[in-house]
Order: sequence, then structure tokens, then C-alpha cells
Amino acid sequence: MPADHTILSTVETPRVLLDYDRLVANIRWMQQIADTHGVALRPHIKTHKCLEIARLQMEAGAVGITAAKTEEALKFMADGIRSVTLAHPLVSAVKIDRLLTAARTHGTELRFIVDSMTGIQAMATAARRHQTTLHLFLKIDVGLHRCGVREEDPRLLPLVRRIEEDPSLRFVGLLSHAGHAYGAKDREGVRAVAREECAILNRVRQRLEEAGIRVAEVSVGSTPTAIASDAYEGITEMRPGNYVFLDRMPLGLGLIDRSQIALSVLAMVVSANDEYLIIDAGSKVLSSDLGPHGMQGIEGYGVAYPVADFDSGKNGLTVVRLSEEHGFLRRNGFDLPVGSLVRILPNHACVVANLADHYLVLGKEATPVQWPVVARALVR
Ligand SMILES: Cc1ncc(COP(=O)(O)O)c(C=O)c1O
Repeated sequence: MPADHTILSTVETPRVLLDYDRLVANIRWMQQIADTHGVALRPHIKTHKCLEIARLQMEAGAVGITAAKTEEALKFMADGIRSVTLAHPLVSAVKIDRLLTAARTHGTELRFIVDSMTGIQAMATAARRHQTTLHLFLKIDVGLHRCGVREEDPRLLPLVRRIEEDPSLRFVGLLSHAGHAYGAKDREGVRAVAREECAILNRVRQRLEEAGIRVAEVSVGSTPTAIASDAYEGITEMRPGNYVFLDRMPLGLGLIDRSQIALSVLAMVVSANDEYLIIDAGSKVLSSDLGPHGMQGIEGYGVAYPVADFDSGKNGLTVVRLSEEHGFLRRNGFDLPVGSLVRILPNHACVVANLADHYLVLGKEATPVQWPVVARALVR
């Protein structure tokens, strides 16, 4: 097969590139991590929003998918995914109705999360409207302080009892997302977050069981914790998303090797001045994400390599500034002629994917194939 940089010289920029072999290796790797720890893998598809990638995850052994947006879930349900967890608190009757209607059409098992009486009430009302039983997780806040109930919150037990007492609802268990692991310093720091998450969930589970409530499932999930954790006692499922692509975030945490990153952005040097090389990928391609949840230590918006140096990692230039359609590479005495191609490792692959129409998949066929990002954006 011709070297990537020969193929890439014919590609119009900017393009989001996907290395097929790395993608498949990442999918197998995470499945192996889940299998080794005896937990189910339910990947979060908000990372790739792509049916072809979800099919590979299911073939490798995933038990279903996790989704955030209603619209996103609907696309994957229509493609035949039979089990979906909506890991975003739904309190809108319209959204719940659309999901339940689609679930009936496609025969999909749906699982929801709740963290408020309002959310539980919305689920109960919808369950009765659709004459069905809804399966609910209680979301536990293990330190991100986004959604969820803290272990010491006095509402915790009443919320679970409210679910238990309603014949149209079934309490499935506990679900958490330790996204604050991205704010850790290194692998040890991430591992400490994962251990704390596991400890909190086990304490909550014990309290509920002492109150006579069965906790069938305990679902955790983020890519850093999935890679670094050694604490799986009582955990039944994990929901990492980013691992299919990986990016500068897990790299910065010392969790992966650069050669594992499957997604990159091809751009062209379109202008130059004394200080910067200017490329045709700005915030509308790379996003202005500096890394989520208190992530530290990432400089700029990505690192750009001349295409021929991408594999070796030589001559990387930091994308130090962005405007909408331009990126600024600090030259640092380095020169690249206008018209040169660069390949960029982005900070956060999930947001880059959401801005693209397609992935250009390298290494699957002799010539690159296109996979649509079918669930991108979806803001009506
Ligand atoms: C609820 C939930 N679960 C799982 C994930 C997956 O995390 P990651 O992208 O780090 O793999 C996310 C990410 O935002 C999430 O919000």
C-alpha cells in the first residue's frame, strides 16, 4: 500500500483522517481491558458519532452503546444497536417520547439516568403513556460536580425509593462519570480518581442494600480511568468513549503512546510571516478546546507535523492560535513552504469529529474510504 503521505498529496484540505489499523487496535485494546476485569463494555458513541465505528465496537464484544443526545441515540437505534444507555439526564417529555417510540419500532432496550425527582416523574409519566417499564440508573456525582447525587446527599435514598415504589419504573443501579480524571497530573493521579470512584459507588451500593434495595449494575466510564484503573470491585460495566481515537489528553496524562492516536487533521500551509506558518484549519475544524475538566499542561490547540514526519513525530509545531478558518503554527526558526501539508494531532478528538462531515479512513482499502459522521452536530 502506498505511504500515507503519497496518498495525502491528492487530498483536499482540511480533512479529518482516521488510521484504520490504530482504530481497530484501540477497539480491541479496550475490549480486552473490559474482559480482563470481567466488566461489560458499553462505549460512548459521542466520540465518533459514526455507524461504521459502532459496528466494529459491537463486533469486538461491546454489549451496547452509550449516547448523550436523543437524536444521536435514534441514529444508532435505527442502525440496529439493540441496547442503549442515555447517559444524560432527560427531563423532557418530547425527547423521552421519541426514544420510546423508536425503541418500540426497533426493539431496542433503553436505559436512562436520573438525578432528580423531576426526572423520575418525567420517566414515570412517559412509562405510563407508553404502557411500558423504564429502566433507570441513579447518577452518582463522584467528583466532577456536573450531574448526579453526592453520596452524602439526603435525597439519595428517597430518590431510589421513589423509583422502587413505582410499578412502571425499575431501578437498575448506579452510574458515574469521573471526567475530573482529565484534571489529574499523571497515571497515578488518574488511578487515584478511579479508586475513589469505585469506593464511593461501593459505599452507596452497601447503603442501598442495607435498606433492602438490590443494586444490579454499577456503571463507570471515562477513557483515562478505564486505562489506568486497578479498582473494579463491584463494577459491572464501563463506558469509555474517547479511546477509539485518543488524542493529546491521554497522551499528556502519560496513559498512551503517540503512535496509538488514530485521528488527525490534514491541513495545508496557506501563508507565512516571520512568526507563524498559517494553515487552513482553524477553530471550525480543530475547535478551541484546550482539554476538558481542568486538564492542565496542554499548550495550544494541537501539534502539526510535516506529513512525512508524522510517524516519527519529528518537527512538530504547536498550533498556538486559531481564528475561525486559520491556524497559527509558531515557526520556532523552522520553515515549510507555502503549499506544504501538515498532519495535526488535536487536543480533543471528540469535538473535532463533531465538526466534520466524514472521516477519511486510511489503511482499510488500497485507496482511502469515507465514513460519514452521521450523528455530528444534531442541533436543530
Ligand atoms: C456520562 C459519560 N460517560 C462516559 C463518557 C466517556 O468518557 P471519555 O470520553 O473520557 O471516554 C462521558 C464523556 O463525556 C460521559 O459524559
